[in-house]
Amino acid sequence: MYLLFCLCLSLVGTYGWSDNRQRKFKDDFLFGAATSAYQVEGAWNLDGKTENVWDKYFHQHPEVITDGRNGDVASDSYHQYKRDVELLRELGVDFYRFSISWNRVLPTGFSNIINEKGVQYYDNLINELLKYNIQPMITLFHFDLPQTLQDLGGWANPLSIEWFEQYAHVVFNKYANKVKYWITINQPNDICIDGYENGKWPPAVDSKGIGAYICIKNVMIAHAKVYRLYEKEYKNKYKGSVGIALAVNWLEPLNNKTENVEITEQYREFMLGTFINPIWSKEGDFPRIVKDIIAKKSKEQGFTRSRLPTLNTEEIKLLKGSSDFLGINHYTTSLVSRSKTQHPSPSFNDDVGVQLSKRSEWKMAKSPWLASAPYGIYKVCIHINLKYDYPPIIITEHGWSTGPGLQDDDRANNLREYMKAILLALEDGTNLKGYTAWSLIDNVEWVAGTSERFGLYEVDFDSEEKTRTARLSAHVYKRLIHTRVVEDNWKPKSMKMKISDRKYKEPKVDL
Ligand code: NOJ
Repeated sequence: MYLLFCLCLSLVGTYGWSDNRQRKFKDDFLFGAATSAYQVEGAWNLDGKTENVWDKYFHQHPEVITDGRNGDVASDSYHQYKRDVELLRELGVDFYRFSISWNRVLPTGFSNIINEKGVQYYDNLINELLKYNIQPMITLFHFDLPQTLQDLGGWANPLSIEWFEQYAHVVFNKYANKVKYWITINQPNDICIDGYENGKWPPAVDSKGIGAYICIKNVMIAHAKVYRLYEKEYKNKYKGSVGIALAVNWLEPLNNKTENVEITEQYREFMLGTFINPIWSKEGDFPRIVKDIIAKKSKEQGFTRSRLPTLNTEEIKLLKGSSDFLGINHYTTSLVSRSKTQHPSPSFNDDVGVQLSKRSEWKMAKSPWLASAPYGIYKVCIHINLKYDYPPIIITEHGWSTGPGLQDDDRANNLREYMKAILLALEDGTNLKGYTAWSLIDNVEWVAGTSERFGLYEVDFDSEEKTRTARLSAHVYKRLIHTRVVEDNWKPKSMKMKISDRKYKEPKVDL
């Protein structure tokens, strides 16, 4: 009896639930699936599209791609988009999150020339979605900056703010009448830290402790300017929502040693607060602790001013409230402890001073950074609720990587467990509007190429048509969307997919 009591207590402690009530997603909770342009479209130089930073980087450095497969052809969604929409119809999702390739629409990177063939491609995709009452959710920028703009400094150049605004203006003018959900920028932390600090991603600028912070300021302001642009010129007429998608994984102390607890709180402010605080906190601006640490270290390092650029009063005002929803891309949890290694000074790693690890009992995906810890999504929601006063949230990405194969029990289980945690977060008051599975189809996972598969649908990259086939997880997700509950042991009778019997309403927009 005592043992049973302890077991219950530890279950409650671990998962936070204590009863067997069946929890259900309400009818207005939205389900979607996501991809991004570079990762799926292919057609890298067709119909007027020009070179972006990933094209250039991978063409010059094929050796950095795990399996050598770049985005030149990828999943060929440029030609297979109707099949992609068919998959979305099979699943019965409410929306499809995809991104626009800046170069496909503006071949010079600037708004002086508009590539009508590129505009037509996205128009066709949007129309195909709306025909089946699947709402498009468009990401304006998902890592693929035009190379012409990179040659001028990319996101390290404050003019990037204007370039992004001009690009967004063109896109809004073309599609705002049909698209209600917009995401300005995907994962600013990766753009800036991987691109301008540690040299992992193009433009691979190695400017430790400096480049990433300049980039972060510009990217955040670019986001806010585009939010204000929509607010001013389109919002009244089209009533759409504009948000930003941030990488929001959960961070918790390795153990309850005070130094680890303290440094975890600090690290959360660096990784989450830097991007959330300027938009959702009452006072705005970057978090105080982040400003203080970087200023102090900069002084010790002999700089005459902080390496973190300041936001002036006008910029703080511009950023505050500049999002209708907070998009969170959540995949995993990391354990944080004080770093034992001496990092180069200055550097971002030196500023944050942490090292990360995973619990040995967590199941690992194909990607070395991805461990399954479902309670993390619950904790992250509660953290955001308490700190930022219950902002509207859309989970704009969550997923799991495997190797090839249709029987992806691990992905299906990961989906079920995270969905249970999301139901609990909803029950505890999180203002969560929707969930997006990453990804609809296998695609180019950046430097991992196609060695890490994230698709609900497998893509046969060797076939002419990049054949898409439903995995077990696609069936499980479809069933969940239909029943609105998580069923642990449900299995499809056959792996053959049919169009979901979800009733489609007439699209509200004239095509
Ligand atoms: C987040 C990124 O937005 C997406 O491009 C990537 O494929 C997934 N994480 C998985 O790593």
